[in-house]
Amino acid sequence: MTARAFPHGPAPVESLAALVGRTPLVRLRRIGADLPGVSIYAKCEFANPGGSVKDRAALRMIEAALAGGRFGPGRTLVDSTSGNTGVAYAWICAALGLRCALVVPGNVSAARKRIAKAFGAELVFSDPLEGSDGAIRKVRELVAAEPGRFFYPDQYGNAENPRAHELGTAVEIAEALDGRVAAFVAGIGTGGTVMGTSRGLRTLAPGVRCYAVEPAEPIHGLEGLKHMASSIVPPIYREQELDGKLSIATADGVAMAERLGREEGLRVGHSAGAAVAGALEIARRLAEGGRRGNVVTVLPDRADRYFEPLRWERRIEW
Ligand SMILES: Cc1ncc(COP(=O)(O)O)c(C=O)c1O
Repeated sequence: MTARAFPHGPAPVESLAALVGRTPLVRLRRIGADLPGVSIYAKCEFANPGGSVKDRAALRMIEAALAGGRFGPGRTLVDSTSGNTGVAYAWICAALGLRCALVVPGNVSAARKRIAKAFGAELVFSDPLEGSDGAIRKVRELVAAEPGRFFYPDQYGNAENPRAHELGTAVEIAEALDGRVAAFVAGIGTGGTVMGTSRGLRTLAPGVRCYAVEPAEPIHGLEGLKHMASSIVPPIYREQELDGKLSIATADGVAMAERLGREEGLRVGHSAGAAVAGALEIARRLAEGGRRGNVVTVLPDRADRYFEPLRWERRIEW
């Protein structure tokens, strides 16, 4: 490429997919300000083009499948998520000219259906009474019936999911802080973010301690996060590699998300609130032990993704 006459702004890109990653790392100015010598930094994953951390894993799984010949114009990506991963699959496929189908329980919210449709993804409905497990079963049936027609990324078992964070998120954090990271804290959905980033940071920020955040209750409102004891543990999640796990109550995650809006100007989702509540707990432990350093956490998405009531909330009202 020839040198640009005005090199200061971002260079043009060939596809929106090229803009995944390189998200801002912001120091929290008020939350944790009472802890001497400890700073909390938040990785703003809502700044990805699809609005969430899942853009990283989805892009890497898609690119690996394209390179390996498991996906391409003749096939359809199929998976059973209507959440952030579904949005990520749908827009990346649209941006790269590929086909995408999302299998969702028949009763998902109109907002979720609209998001998928806006990116041209096909929606396949599974039995609403069987919930997300029914959607997973339906995907497996579709793929088993016509294996040559589909690419099934299976984010819970796909090593490219944590690798996106090991080679991306971790490198960006270590570079931004010159390798000075005392602790890393992130929520567990598939476990991709916490496992991959922790793996990367262990070599780039020696001495770092890594912690997962999970909801304290089996039935919770921290969408995107998994309560491990009552869930099928994702194959990519290896708790023994981490230094600990923090349980955060839904009410505390929600309260911290509201605080982030009011005190830091960060209007983020509830799982981000839970992650920051966990980071604050670790920062407190560091300060109480007389230690100094940077605690880094991840803000997976923005609050506006949750503005429409979700179907399960309405079901409670019934
Ligand atoms: C809102 C939200 N928070 C956190 C996560 C956790 O991400 P991961 O799947 O990398 O563990 C997800 C992803 O499922 C999410 O959608």
